Amino acid sequence: MTTATPTAPAQPHAAPAASGASTIESVLVENRVFPPPARARDGARVAGIEAYRALRQEAESDPDAFWATRARELLTWDTPFTRTLDDSDPPFFRWFDDGMLNASANCLDRHIGTPVEDKTAIVFEADDGAVTQVSYRELLERVGRFANALKAQGIGKGDRVIVYLPMTVEGVVAMQACARIGATHSVVFGGFSAKALQERIIDIGAVAVVTANFQKRGGKELPLKSIVDEALAMGGCDAVKTVLVYERTPTAWTRNDRDIPFGEALAGQSADCPPVPVEAEHPLFVLYTSGSTGKPKGVQHSTAGYLLWARMTMDWTFDLRPDDVFWCTADIGWITGHTYVAYGPLAAGATQVVFEGIPTYPNAGRFWQMIERHKVSIFYTAPTAIRSLIKAAEADAQSHPDRSDLSSLRILGTVGEPINPEAWMWYHKHVGGERCPVVDTFWQTETGGHVITPLPGATPLVPGSCTLPLPGIDAAIVDETGNELPDGTGGMLVIRKPWPSMIRTIWGDPERFKKSYFPAEMGGSVYLAGDGAVRSAGTAAMDGADRGYFRITGRIDDVLNISGHRMGTMEIESALVSKTDLVAEAAVVGRPDELTGEAICAFVVLKGPRPTGDAAKALAKELRDWVAKEIGPIAKPKDIRFGENLPKTRSGKIMRRLLRNIARGEAITQDTSTLENPAILEQLGEVN
Ligand code: WT7
Repeated sequence: MTTATPTAPAQPHAAPAASGASTIESVLVENRVFPPPARARDGARVAGIEAYRALRQEAESDPDAFWATRARELLTWDTPFTRTLDDSDPPFFRWFDDGMLNASANCLDRHIGTPVEDKTAIVFEADDGAVTQVSYRELLERVGRFANALKAQGIGKGDRVIVYLPMTVEGVVAMQACARIGATHSVVFGGFSAKALQERIIDIGAVAVVTANFQKRGGKELPLKSIVDEALAMGGCDAVKTVLVYERTPTAWTRNDRDIPFGEALAGQSADCPPVPVEAEHPLFVLYTSGSTGKPKGVQHSTAGYLLWARMTMDWTFDLRPDDVFWCTADIGWITGHTYVAYGPLAAGATQVVFEGIPTYPNAGRFWQMIERHKVSIFYTAPTAIRSLIKAAEADAQSHPDRSDLSSLRILGTVGEPINPEAWMWYHKHVGGERCPVVDTFWQTETGGHVITPLPGATPLVPGSCTLPLPGIDAAIVDETGNELPDGTGGMLVIRKPWPSMIRTIWGDPERFKKSYFPAEMGGSVYLAGDGAVRSAGTAAMDGADRGYFRITGRIDDVLNISGHRMGTMEIESALVSKTDLVAEAAVVGRPDELTGEAICAFVVLKGPRPTGDAAKALAKELRDWVAKEIGPIAKPKDIRFGENLPKTRSGKIMRRLLRNIARGEAITQDTSTLENPAILEQLGEVN
């Protein structure tokens, strides 16, 4: 991390530094607080911290009435619900469950006949810079036509469709079209391998795959369709009857029996496809994410509760106004791209930017240039992107945000991993011009939308803190048995009451759902986030303004967070040991990384002798490529260390804490006298 002294903020409500010593201290201990600027507070939906407290109070005193009112007001129902929460069978909570609605109708049809009808829904900027605009009316027609094409293939309510598409309007259209006919989509990020794709196709029992011949990123064409072919050829995918192929590039591709190019599938289809009403609890989508075992979890979301949250947080967290231009940079392959690209902005009638490319092509000023070009007013991205763009701006003044006119910006957001205060300060100063609140939104694939986050017109901000829970989110910090810990003491983050957009189950594995998220030791109905956190007791340096503020300290399970992407250590270990001709044993841990937040470090025991020098380097490369093929490039270990064996306890358990120390280059403090072969510690110190 750069150790530059943080720049003094414009008018922070910071404690006066009493002495030189405390000034130095301030670099280490956060004591900067940024109250909402008048510009953000005036006219905000939630204006001022008292308004936030009042909302929270309202949600606490009568949660049913609180959610029911909002669900009636913000969603359009085909059959109105009469029951708000059914908590008779925890943790299988049901919301609004006797009501019926359609998610796509709520994102598109709802706006027809309103001023939003002719508003731009999507400003699409392609990798090569070409810009196209789609109005709400046009988007509805495209979704209708695509939905009819799906129906023509015999796909309907309850069927599962895999979406393996690049960040394009078509990606959003495919998701909305599934929702329109009641099919459950499962989007697989375009960076996942054939093997990862095949596992998901099988687990979900997909009847169709929607893909593209190629995707374009950073000026390169990357194949997608051939990866689908590979996945299907691996076997077990017989339920897949159709593969719809979007010809994103003019490049040739191999057409197989079940393949249908978009052009053919859409030809002659009517743009009019009546939305199919579904039960409130109908699974809108399943999104796979990493857990602490080798097998990814299919996180199942509902229709109504999920959509309500997506819609509501557009108002709360982003304080969306009619003329905003919203830009969330996440890919539709992740939950952020579901809630804040495919559903939330559309349900709220926003104009949003969808970007196909990467932040560093053709240069690292792309994001800033795009903000200027499209007059983006709300910008939402990941800390990793910010950190890499800071580095790029420091190296090349041409890519500095100062080179672009960013005066359209009103609100900035971050998501996916803890943001270090230095990066927060840079973002606030150089991107936000010290005018824009930075909302550090904490949430997860499982929570469906934001759960702990500042509100831009209400919450005083503290760099590095996601501040306070949203109204109705009963977040707490507890020990292993569920006892609440005092403020200032780190522990496990839990949410004690159900909320509408929470995960409903793990697809096909309700037992794992219960075991992973609702530990029996805590009574079986408290949601365990899997993160460590600490809540501030209120620091004197801030006059206690930060009392109750949450700071996320990172995962407490075997899940790593690489550039804001979740990866299970067990998944990577399984991938490594599946290289049976080479690998005898493997253990994977995380270590901090300046750019990506965490980096993957693999300790490997080979079947043959321990390699050294160039041979070790070549084998490390072979293993990295293998992992990329098994899971995807995002899972490639940064460090590979070879040992003759791994450090184990007498009972044969791998000493992971020790491995973490080694990975971080820390001094080893624990007792290593029980190790069979202490010499391996030295071996494992060598990085390849
Ligand atoms: C994990 C969830 C939420 C959408 C993208 C990631 C980490 C997320 C923050 C934040 C600190 C954060 C947590 C969480 N995380 N947001 N603002 N501050 N940590 O979704 O892949 O399900 O990952 O990301 O560790 O558990 P995900």
